[in-house]
Amino acid sequence: MKIFQLPWLFLIPFFTALFGINTILVSSQCLEGQKSLLLQLKNSLKFNSAISVSLVNWTQTNDCCGWKGVNCDPNGRVTGLDLNSESISGGINQSSLFSLQFLENLNLANNSFKFAQIPPSFGNLTSLRYLNLSMAGFNGQIPIELSLLTRLAVLDLSSLYFPGTPSLQLENPNLLTLLRNLNKLTELHLDGVNISAKGSGWSQAISSSLPSLRVLSLSNCYLSGPIDISLQNLQFLSEINLGKNNLSAPVPEFFASFPNLTALSLSSSNLYGTFPEKILRVPTLQTLDLENNRLVDGSLPEFPRNSNLKKLVLSDTKFSGRLPDSMGNLTKLSWIEIARCNFSGMIPTSMANLTQLVYVDMSSNMFNGPIPSFQMSKNLSYIDISHSNLTGPVPDTHFEGLSNLVNINLAYNSFKGSVPSSLFSLPSLKKIQLSNNHFDEVSQSPNRSSPELSPLDTLDLSSNKLQGPIPPYFFDFVSISIFSLSFNNFSGIIQLESIRRIPSSTQLQSFSETSFEGNERLCGPPLNTSCSNPSTPPSVNKSDSVLRTVFDWQFIYTGLGFGIGAGFIVGPLMFWKKLSNCCDEHIERFVWKILPTLGFIFPCCNDVNDEAEDNIDEVPLTEDSDEDDDEMEDKTFMGRYCVFCSKLDIYRKKVIHDPKCCCHELPPISSSSTSSSSPSK
Ligand SMILES: *[C@@H]1O[C@H](CO)[C@@H](O)[C@H](O)[C@H]1NC(C)=O
Ligand SMILES: *[C@@H]1O[C@H](CO)[C@@H](O)[C@H](O)[C@H]1NC(C)=O
Ligand SMILES: *[C@@H]1O[C@H](CO)[C@@H](O)[C@H](O)[C@H]1NC(C)=O
Ligand SMILES: *[C@@H]1O[C@H](CO)[C@@H](O)[C@H](O)[C@H]1NC(C)=O
Ligand SMILES: *[C@@H]1O[C@H](CO)[C@@H](O)[C@H](O)[C@H]1NC(C)=O
Ligand SMILES: *[C@@H]1O[C@H](CO)[C@@H](O)[C@H](O)[C@H]1NC(C)=O
Ligand SMILES: *[C@@H]1O[C@H](CO)[C@@H](O)[C@H](O)[C@H]1NC(C)=O
Ligand SMILES: *[C@@H]1O[C@H](CO)[C@@H](O)[C@H](O)[C@H]1NC(C)=O
Ligand SMILES: *[C@@H]1O[C@H](CO)[C@@H](O)[C@H](O)[C@H]1NC(C)=O
Ligand SMILES: *[C@@H]1O[C@H](CO)[C@@H](O)[C@H](O)[C@H]1NC(C)=O
Ligand SMILES: *[C@@H]1O[C@H](CO)[C@@H](O)[C@H](O)[C@H]1NC(C)=O
Ligand SMILES: *[C@@H]1O[C@H](CO)[C@@H](O)[C@H](O)[C@H]1NC(C)=O
Repeated sequence: MKIFQLPWLFLIPFFTALFGINTILVSSQCLEGQKSLLLQLKNSLKFNSAISVSLVNWTQTNDCCGWKGVNCDPNGRVTGLDLNSESISGGINQSSLFSLQFLENLNLANNSFKFAQIPPSFGNLTSLRYLNLSMAGFNGQIPIELSLLTRLAVLDLSSLYFPGTPSLQLENPNLLTLLRNLNKLTELHLDGVNISAKGSGWSQAISSSLPSLRVLSLSNCYLSGPIDISLQNLQFLSEINLGKNNLSAPVPEFFASFPNLTALSLSSSNLYGTFPEKILRVPTLQTLDLENNRLVDGSLPEFPRNSNLKKLVLSDTKFSGRLPDSMGNLTKLSWIEIARCNFSGMIPTSMANLTQLVYVDMSSNMFNGPIPSFQMSKNLSYIDISHSNLTGPVPDTHFEGLSNLVNINLAYNSFKGSVPSSLFSLPSLKKIQLSNNHFDEVSQSPNRSSPELSPLDTLDLSSNKLQGPIPPYFFDFVSISIFSLSFNNFSGIIQLESIRRIPSSTQLQSFSETSFEGNERLCGPPLNTSCSNPSTPPSVNKSDSVLRTVFDWQFIYTGLGFGIGAGFIVGPLMFWKKLSNCCDEHIERFVWKILPTLGFIFPCCNDVNDEAEDNIDEVPLTEDSDEDDDEMEDKTFMGRYCVFCSKLDIYRKKVIHDPKCCCHELPPISSSSTSSSSPSK
């Protein structure tokens, strides 16, 4: 017998190991009762199965602890349920949710409960530590039963509030009765809940109930002030958001005494008085937002080198004084918005050391002196220092290599010298606004660090003192939609053939007269100034000499028609080319006559309509076109250029005129220059 016992004894550790593993497997498997509760829950909830990613995949077959959005404890009891963004719209009242008695974490955020009330049954889930009903579409009075959830550490009932829509209310119970027993709360988010507490009662309710509070977010809660001093007992407070209330009080200095203050947002809160500088020197502070408190004044202190400030938003306050040189110590600063304040003095050159900057809006202050370099701020994407009193040149190197820069606005200052041409080849740059300065030079070729031009949609250099010919590459920005060189000293003839290079017809709008007006020494279409006028002799150099071809038919084709409409328009235009001596009105009449037959409305800019019927017969209708082209190109053409700013809107079946550039004089063209014509690419 002993002989046979030995192998059996040998197997004992093996079986115990197997058994052990087996119990672990069993215990992680969800309990049958829990599984059927979840399946009942799925059946009673209304949700859109096309949007749902969790509920929709709960099926009879598998272990429910492995379902998406479900968490279990080692005993197979469901302790976590994350059903955020599942497009749930109802069916929660009678559901089995409130029988999942082991739930500790529940997230129903971002659903659409259609302004229903929060079911009082949430009070049954007494194990909850985390409850997130933010943006779930609930509305009305918050039920008193939530105050039974005494283990809660995080409560989020916040929602975006739009005036005029119903919101959650805390009237009965009020804030104090809701919170009195929730002593374990570390995060309270009630943004958008109508707390509507009079006086400073709300801050007392919080300070007396929530000793462990770390995050307090009560924006848009109809709170009034002042902020009670008892709040300073909450020594763990780290994030405070009281924005969009009517606090009508000064900012209390005790905010500076929270040892771990990281974010303070008090925007649009009707604050007044002087902002305590001490708060700005709190070493842990990362975000300060005081935007839109027009009665708050203050100034920036010397910043210590260990500052953690990342985001500073002071726009629309009365902050004034200089920016301290110690701004250079804010090495983590990435976002600075101090627009429409009353700052003055020089912008410290130490700002050039702020390598983390992403967003800079310092517009509408009274800064003077030069602009600092931003060359080291490689992540910079937005810079607006317009409407100040800055002077001096803007060196090309200041913005060199800023590959993320999208928007630069230096308008309404007193900058002079050369437009920084490095801007024109930054790979992300969409908007350049340099108007209303004293720039007097723009380089004739972009300072290309990269082979491409920037993808500009806006180039505004108006009201400067720029002179010389218009740089040819200005016409190479393929997606430009706002383009203004008006009120400068540009000279020469607008190179129509350059404009022709712009590919899309919609962009013709960018090059109307207003783009160029106010340049006395500039002539040619789309301006009305004829280049022949001897009183304003344009300084013509070889490169920008004379318009070579009379018309670029391709261009008019693009300008007048697009889509299927285009095909119908080519014929008449070609035909007009033959009759190039005819008055331009003929073409309008012609188009006017023929388009209605195609179902288009053609409102003519000159009210040609009335007499048109009479004379229309003078124009023989023929669509025969191409044969005489070569002959025509040798003839000189002087006349008016009328269809430049017209286009067919194929969807509205309408011809759209820009009345400002309906007809333009073409400059006289010498036959020598026409003979050397070569179609521009
Ligand atoms: C849900 O299940 C379907 C098919 O059973 C699967 O294609 C899809 O990837 C699953 N979705 C998620 C979010 O697991
Ligand atoms: C909210 O849910 C919708 C789907 O219903 C989703 O598209 C959206 O991204 C969610 N929003 C957030 C902030 O999670
Ligand atoms: C609540 O859930 C939403 C959506 O999942 C999330 O964005 C938000 O941060 C959550 N709130 C808290 C306090 O965790
Ligand atoms: C639950 O039912 C009550 C009435 O019994 C109703 O007022 C409430 O809006 C319902 N809530 C939801 C989420 O359907
Ligand atoms: C909540 O608990 C009460 C008793 O504590 C019970 O009567 C009620 O049925 C429970 N509600 C749900 C939905 O489980
Ligand atoms: C906020 O609630 C109070 C009552 O508590 C009410 O008088 C007021 O109209 C509510 N305001 C809004 C915007 O719902
Ligand atoms: C803000 O509160 C002050 C004083 O409590 C009050 O005079 C003022 O009308 C309130 N402003 C708004 C917009 O409610
Ligand atoms: C300070 O607050 C941050 C962010 O809220 C948190 O991560 C950190 O643990 C807190 N530190 C202390 C000492 O409380
Ligand atoms: C930066 O902080 C140090 C002290 O930490 C201070 O001496 C210095 O003046 C501050 N300013 C600059 C520009 O470094
Ligand atoms: C702006 O600051 C100047 C002093 O720098 C002061 O004289 C002026 O009153 C301030 N303006 C406003 C609107 O606060
Ligand atoms: C930038 O920082 C370096 C090193 O911290 C310092 O030597 C230099 O003076 C700073 N430059 C400016 C313009 O403040
Ligand atoms: C702008 O600066 C000039 C001198 O540089 C000064 O004369 C003028 O008063 C300043 N304007 C404003 C609005 O500060």
